[in-house]
Amino acid sequence: MPALPARAARSLLRAVPLRRLAEPGGSLRWSSSRSPSPRLLLSTPIFYVNGPPHIGHLYSAVLADALHRHRELLGCEGGRLATGTDEHGLKIQAAAAAAGISPKEFCDRVSAEFRELFAQAGISYSDFIRTTELRHRRAVECFWAALQAGGSLYQADYEGWYCTAEESFLAASQVMECPDAQGRKQMVSLESGHQVHWTREENYMFKLSEFREPLQRWLCENKDAINPEPYYQQVLQWLEEELPDLSVSRDRNRLHWGIPVPGDSSQTIYVWVDALVNYLTAVGYPEEHRAWWPRACHIVGKDILKFHAIYWPALLMAAGLEPPLRLWVHSHWTVQGQKMSKSLGNVIAPKDCFQHYTVDGFRYFLLRQGVPEWDCDYYDEKVIKLLNSELAGTLGGLLNRCTAPALNPSGTYPIFSEACFPRDLGSGSGKASVEDYKLVSLVEILPLKVSTSFDRFQIYKALESIMECVRQTNGFIQRHRPWKLCPEDPAQRQWQETILHVSLECLRVYGLLLQPVVPDLADKLLSRLGVSPTERSLKNLNFLPRYHGGKCSFEGRKLGPDPGLLFPRLKKSKASHCTDP
Ligand code: ME8
Ligand code: MG
Repeated sequence: MPALPARAARSLLRAVPLRRLAEPGGSLRWSSSRSPSPRLLLSTPIFYVNGPPHIGHLYSAVLADALHRHRELLGCEGGRLATGTDEHGLKIQAAAAAAGISPKEFCDRVSAEFRELFAQAGISYSDFIRTTELRHRRAVECFWAALQAGGSLYQADYEGWYCTAEESFLAASQVMECPDAQGRKQMVSLESGHQVHWTREENYMFKLSEFREPLQRWLCENKDAINPEPYYQQVLQWLEEELPDLSVSRDRNRLHWGIPVPGDSSQTIYVWVDALVNYLTAVGYPEEHRAWWPRACHIVGKDILKFHAIYWPALLMAAGLEPPLRLWVHSHWTVQGQKMSKSLGNVIAPKDCFQHYTVDGFRYFLLRQGVPEWDCDYYDEKVIKLLNSELAGTLGGLLNRCTAPALNPSGTYPIFSEACFPRDLGSGSGKASVEDYKLVSLVEILPLKVSTSFDRFQIYKALESIMECVRQTNGFIQRHRPWKLCPEDPAQRQWQETILHVSLECLRVYGLLLQPVVPDLADKLLSRLGVSPTERSLKNLNFLPRYHGGKCSFEGRKLGPDPGLLFPRLKKSKASHCTDP
C-alpha cells in the first residue's frame, strides 16, 4: 500500500480550506430551480451485526432511501446510496463466542439478514459495504497511513473505562458505580447503563485535542453541516470542553477480530475508525474518492452523533480530506418510553410489521410519524390508526371515488372544460368556487413544498402537506357531489367530467410525490391512473395544463386496470401481538 509521504500529507492538510468548496453556502440545493448537483453520496450508518435488525435500524435506512429516491425523482441520476454492516470489534467477537461459531460465520449470517431486510423493504442502495471485505481493509490501511503521514498518531500507555456495548472509552464523569443483580460492585456507563471495564494498555493515540479549533471553525462556517439545529448546537457545546486524545487501537490479544495496525501486528485498529472509513470505501478510496468527496451526506441516529460530528471530521482533516457536506441526525423509536435496543431486548421485528401492515404501509408509518428532533414511542394502535385514516381512508377513498365505474363508466381520463373552470374566477359560465381555485394553487405549489421539506430532512412535513392536499381534494369532490349530476345533460356532464379531471390531476401529483416514500403503493396508484413509468418524474409533472390553456396528454386516455383497494383497511386484532414480548 503506497503511503502518502509525510510532507505531502501535511501540505494537503494546509491546502484544504475548511470552507465548503463544492457548495457555496453549504446547502444541498437539490430542490431549487438550478439543477441539483448529481454527485452526492447518501449513507446510512453501517449496522452492527451483533443481533438481528429491528425497526430502529430500518428507520435509519428508510430515511436515507426516501431522500435518495427523492433526488432521483428530481432528475438527479448520479447519486449513490451506501449502506452496509459493521462487523469488527469486541461486541461482535463476544456475540460470536456466545453463539459458539466463528466471528466470520456469525457476521455472514447476520449481515445477510440485513441485506434481506433491505431487499424486502425496498432500500434502493447502490452499495452494501461489509467491513470484513478486502476493499474496505485496503481503504482503512491507506487511511491509517495518511493519519500517520500527517503526524496525527503517537503511541502511549492508555488507561480508562471501556464500554464494549458502545465500543467507546468513557471519561470518569461518564461512568458511575452501580451494583449488579447479585449486589456485586460494578461500574456502568451513565448514558447507556452498560457495564464498563478498566482497561490499561499501550495504544496508538490520535491527536484529537488538536482539532478542537478546526472543528469549531468548520461548524462556524457551515451552519448547515449538522441538522436539525439542536444537534448542531449540541456539538458546539461539546466543543466548548477540552477534547482528549483518542485511543485508536487495541491490544490484539484482547481484540483479534479487526484490522491489524499496518506494520504493527500487536495492535488492532479501533472499530470506530474502521467503521467510519466505510464512507470512503463507498466512493472508491484511495483511488476514486476525489470525484465525490466531500459530497457526502450521512444519516445517523443521535446516539452516534459524537462519532460522526467530532471524531470523523477530525480524522478526515488529519488525513488531508474535508469533513462531509452534511450530517442528518434522527432520534429514536422507544417502546414504553425506553429506547428500542438489542441489548434491552425490547425490539420490534421489521418482518412482523411488514406482514401486518405491508412494506409500504410500514414505510409510510415510520416516515410520517418519525420526527428527527424527538423520540417517538411505538405501539401497534398508532400504526393501525394512521394507516386506516390516511392510506385506506383519505387517499384510497379519493382514488376510489374518481375511478368508480358508476361515475366514470368509460374508464377514461375525463375531459376538462375551460368553460366550467375558467382561469378567472367568476367569469361567464364558470362553476368552480373560490375554494376550488385555492385547491388548484395549493397543489401547484405542493411539489416545491415537498422538496423543501425533504431538503430540510423533514419528510414527515412533506407527507403532512401531501395529506392536507388529499383531504382538500376530497373536500372538492364532496362540495360538488358529481354523483348528483346527470350525465345525460351535456352541461352537467361537462362539469362532472371537469371535477373528475381536476381530481385525477391532483391524484397524479400525489402519486408522483409519494414515490420516494411508498414506491409500490405509488406505482399502484399511478398505474391505475394510466401514468406510464416514463411519465413519473417531476420533470414531466405539468399539473392541470388545460387550466393554463395547454394540452393534457392524459385526457381521453384509458385508465389502468382496477387493482382493487389501494390500501386495505387494517383490523385491530390483526396486529395486536406485534408488540408482545
Ligand atoms: O451504531 N430508534 O450501529 P447500530 C432509531 N455500527 N434508530 C435506532 C434505534 C432506535 N431505537 N436503535 C438503533 C452503530 N438505531 C455503528 C454505526 S457508522 C460508521 C457505525 C439506529 O447497529 C442508530 O441510531 O448500533 C444508528 O443510526 C443505526 O441504527 C445503527 O445502529
Ligand atoms: Mg447501537
